[in-house]
Amino acid sequence: MIFYFTGTGNSLWVAKVLGEALGEPLVSIADELRKEAEDLTYPVRPDEKILFVYPVHSWGPAVLVSRFISRLTLNGYAEQPVYSVSTCGDECGYTDRLIRKALGKRAIPLTAAYSVIMPNNYILLPGFNVDSKEVEERKLQEAPARVDGIVEAIRTHRQEALYHTGSMPGLKSRCVYPLFAHLAIGRNAFRATDACISCGLCERICPTGTIRMQDGKPVWANTCVQCVACIHRCPVRAIEYGKETLKKGRYHHPDHQNQTRNRNHRPSDPDR
Ligand SMILES: Cc1cc2nc3c(=O)[nH]c(=O)nc-3n(C[C@H](O)[C@H](O)[C@H](O)COP(=O)(O)O)c2cc1C
Ligand code: SF4
Ligand code: SF4
Repeated sequence: MIFYFTGTGNSLWVAKVLGEALGEPLVSIADELRKEAEDLTYPVRPDEKILFVYPVHSWGPAVLVSRFISRLTLNGYAEQPVYSVSTCGDECGYTDRLIRKALGKRAIPLTAAYSVIMPNNYILLPGFNVDSKEVEERKLQEAPARVDGIVEAIRTHRQEALYHTGSMPGLKSRCVYPLFAHLAIGRNAFRATDACISCGLCERICPTGTIRMQDGKPVWANTCVQCVACIHRCPVRAIEYGKETLKKGRYHHPDHQNQTRNRNHRPSDPDR
C-alpha cells in the first residue's frame, strides 16, 4: 500500500511509478483525512510493502503526512517492510529521521528512506522561486532512473544510499521545520486577483478544503498547509501570495494536468 500526499503532482508521479512497479495500490492521505473518520485503520497483507510518498516541506515531512501517521493503525502488521520516499527540490535534511520517529510512535519501524529530486515548487517567501526551464527539464529527465533505483533497492532488500540529506540538516530540520510546521497552519496571504475567471479549480483541488468559492471568487480559511497546489494550478495565474509571487514562476508536474484532487488509485486504474 502506498500512502501518498502531493501538492503539485511530483510525489503523485513518483507514487504512481512505484505503485505500478511494486503492484501496490495508492491511497491518498488528503482524501483519507478529509473523511474525518475517528481512526485511520488499514488492513495489510502478510506480503504487503508499505510506502509513504510525499514532498519535503521546510526540511521535514509535509504537515498532513505527520498528522496522518499520528493516527495510523495497520491491521495485520507483522514487520512488513515500511519505506519513506520523499520528493524535494534540492535536499531533505533529516526528514527521514522525523518520519522514522513519527512511525516509531505508532510502533511501525521504518525499513529504509529514499528521496527523489524533482522540480522545486516553493515560491512563497522572498528569495525562493521555481527552477529555470533547463533545471526543471533536467530534473524530470533524471527522476525515472532514480525511482528505478529505489524499486530495485526495495525488491532486492539492498540498503542503498538513495537519500539526499544536504547541508546543515540539524539546524534546518530541528529548528526551521518546527517553526514552519507551527506557522504553516493558520493565517495565510493568498488572494485572487481580478484575473480570476471563477472556474472553481482551486476549491476543487485544495487538499484541506481551505478554499471556498464565495460570490464567484475563492476565499481562503485558516487551515492552509502551504502545499502550494492552488497558486501553481490556477489556469489564469489569478492567485498571488501577498506581493511576493507577482513575478515568480509557476510549476506543476506535466502529468498532473487533469487531476482535480488527491485520490485513491489501484495499479490497474485506466487513467494512471
Ligand atoms: C512549503 C514548502 C516547503 C518546501 N521545502 C523544501 C525543502 O526544505 N527542501 C527542498 O529540497 N524542497 C522543498 N520544497 C520543494 C518540494 O519539496 C518539491 O518541489 C516537491 O517535489 C513538491 O512535491 P509535490 O509536487 O508532490 O507537492 C518545498 C515546497 C513547499 C511547498
Ligand atoms: S483556479 Fe484561479 S481562476 Fe479558477 S477560481 Fe481559483 S483563482 Fe479563480
Ligand atoms: S489553500 Fe492552497 S496552499 Fe493551502 S492547502 Fe489549499 S491548495 Fe494548498
